Amino acid sequence: MTPRHRLIVGNWKMHKTIPEARDFVARLAELLTPAPPDSMVEIVLAPPFTALAAVSTAIKSLPIGLSAQDMHWEDLGAFTGAVSPLMLKDLGCRYVIIGHSERRRDFGETDATVNKKVAAALRHGLRPILCIGETWDQRTNSQTEQVLSAQLTAALTGIEKDQAGDVVIAYEPVWAIGSDHPATAQQAHDAHRHIRARVTALWGQDAGERLVILYGGSVKPDNIGELLASREVNGALIGGACLDPLQFAKMLSIASSTT
Ligand code: 13P
Repeated sequence: MTPRHRLIVGNWKMHKTIPEARDFVARLAELLTPAPPDSMVEIVLAPPFTALAAVSTAIKSLPIGLSAQDMHWEDLGAFTGAVSPLMLKDLGCRYVIIGHSERRRDFGETDATVNKKVAAALRHGLRPILCIGETWDQRTNSQTEQVLSAQLTAALTGIEKDQAGDVVIAYEPVWAIGSDHPATAQQAHDAHRHIRARVTALWGQDAGERLVILYGGSVKPDNIGELLASREVNGALIGGACLDPLQFAKMLSIASSTT
């Protein structure tokens, strides 16, 4: 079997103060020593804005990357409370999560703002982790593929093919998030196949094949191996289970052993 690149992202959501964030990184560093996951597993942490600077410093000599959980699409201006792509670059971010369903649900994020944010991230050399996914109602009404297609099309409007390599998609079925009911490996596989087919139709075969698609929604040490077994699943976007360094390290180790 040829080795496969995996991307494992820990989305801390609204968790951890600065001291807690530093403790997490120190503990994770211990757990990754002496045998860090092989280089085929890329590790990324997405702390809240307040802990980005501390985590950025703490991971400097570690094989760990940094992501923000959201950003504004403008470089600067009168946008109280917002954070710009330039500011994230300043802090050493390489990734930014965009369009998470919690932001769509609670903060008025729309397909149109998601599209502006994806474009802004790419313009500044940040890799957007674009989140899409259906609700339970949509799934039971057989609308999953239609919803995924619509979200993808809207989010990627105007994005040029030559930027395709920097786009990461996270398939996060809304019903699976924080629910203890992850998608089955088959459901994840099918959704990822559909997403890849759409991206292939948009940007061509090569971009489709290279596209990194993460699965997110109740990923845990006891199910990550099964989810990653599909060639369509290139990594995971993990919420609750990533907050504990031991569980996170366990999942990294499983990801590494299944490349
Ligand atoms: P959980 O892993 O807690 O279900 O959260 C998934 C998620 O929303 C990651 O972005």
